Amino acid sequence: MDWGLKNRLSRIIKPDGRTVMLAIDHGYFLGPVQRLEDPSKTIKPLLPYTDALMPTRGVLRSCVDAGNDIPIVLRASGGNTIIGEDLSNEEVTVSMRDAVRLNVSAVAFSIYIGSKYEHQTIVNFSRLVDEGMEYGIPALAVTAVGKELEKRDARYLSLCCRIAAELGASFVKTYYCEDFEKVVKSCPVPLVIAGGPKLKTDFDALRIAHDAIERGASGVDMGRNIWQSENPVAMIKTIRAIVHDDISFDKAKQMLTSLKGPKRS
Ligand code: 5RP
Repeated sequence: MDWGLKNRLSRIIKPDGRTVMLAIDHGYFLGPVQRLEDPSKTIKPLLPYTDALMPTRGVLRSCVDAGNDIPIVLRASGGNTIIGEDLSNEEVTVSMRDAVRLNVSAVAFSIYIGSKYEHQTIVNFSRLVDEGMEYGIPALAVTAVGKELEKRDARYLSLCCRIAAELGASFVKTYYCEDFEKVVKSCPVPLVIAGGPKLKTDFDALRIAHDAIERGASGVDMGRNIWQSENPVAMIKTIRAIVHDDISFDKAKQMLTSLKGPKRS
């Protein structure tokens, strides 16, 4: 691995091999998602507990202080919207030149395996890997499922993650699922998990973070289950302890409960 690429990746995945990434890229196809209407306000209290931030370039330029030293994993795909015809219809939306100008640590691109636009997303992701290699910028493949959340099982996600790694992803963002260890085992690069839509309780989100780490994930790249929580700071602190300190699920529940402050207005 080239020094530049290795160096950028090491800013995201810490020396213990783990990372807490905060995803705030949702607006690129969802618009002003609840509790991310004002990204600067949402991320400010969370940044001290975040290892890497995943925004779009628009939010990065307008809402993230350039004096910040946090590694950026830049959302570099789009072209779809929640009210459009097909969520899988994504292409590259950021040039590598602009990614370099933004001093990002990695670029992120969604691949939609088994969808109408599978071929297009696979080929575009491969091109992004090539371009990233020229500048030493690693690529994160996101194994996206669009609206078909029921697709998220070990058989399908193993296929997606392995294909992503074969195409040259330096790391992969996927979903937690039953038999997750099978997904990890067949993927030769680090895996981080998304949280998906807000789960019923914060404990449910802690559970998937804990179980994913226990079964071999290198970390999380969560959004809604952190900043849509009533207690986002308590959530990210607890998730951090799960990821970096390997705390048990019971300990995580206790930690979250004791960290919870008064509900926000
Ligand atoms: C969609 C994405 C999202 O934009 C986001 O990063 C997911 O985060 P979460 O599901 O934890 O809110 O990657 O494929």
